[in-house]
Amino acid sequence: MSGARKRAAADAALAELRSGQRLGLGTGSTAAAFLEALAEALASGRLEDLAGVPTSRATEVRARELGIPLIDLPADGVDVAVDGMDEVDGALNAVKGLGGALLREKVVAEAATRFVLIGDDGKTVGRLGERAPLPVEVLAFGVARTEARLRALGLTPTLRGGATEPFLSDNGNPILDAVLPEDADLPALAAALDAIPGVMAHGLFLGMADVAYLASDGDVVRREADA
Ligand code: 5RP
Repeated sequence: MSGARKRAAADAALAELRSGQRLGLGTGSTAAAFLEALAEALASGRLEDLAGVPTSRATEVRARELGIPLIDLPADGVDVAVDGMDEVDGALNAVKGLGGALLREKVVAEAATRFVLIGDDGKTVGRLGERAPLPVEVLAFGVARTEARLRALGLTPTLRGGATEPFLSDNGNPILDAVLPEDADLPALAAALDAIPGVMAHGLFLGMADVAYLASDGDVVRREADA
């Protein structure tokens, strides 16, 4: 996805924001484009008195560089969370987590009154898992057992980074990238993953997004979840 498309989706998503709101700030290159758009809107006075909850150390560092005020996640949540995705289907169900921030992203998205996805319309799929693996953040303790539980659900997991130097999330947890079977029942799979004690979070964001801004060359389409 080109930088111009990311920025176009990010600029369009500013329409979801109002001065005085508390925001969830996503992670990844598209979310980084949104930070830049947000910083410019604050600098120009188009938006005022906003504060954001970063979903990763990388987002925290970049937001500080851009002068975006940051807060911890308030007990009563945030008004709007804006984040990228790896895949999105027609109902705005999404796979997230190739950037490794899925646990904090899900905590913040769940705490948001409105959850806004931004990205390239090339990330639109007919079936989640079609192109991207499903990231599953797991506890390092008992990882072999957790991996076996995933296999029993029909998934094919691979430890991100490999066994000698596994990738660790900001929470210090490894991530299993799992290929989904074509006939996966996604709500049932999400519930089954949620019930495995060693699973900290999975990248299925089902029924969470309210709206998506999807950029193609020269155009950004706004799609509502119930449209
Ligand atoms: C990070 C994510 C990202 O939002 C997702 O990977 C998309 O990233 P990018 O905008 O760089 O394509 O879920 O955990």
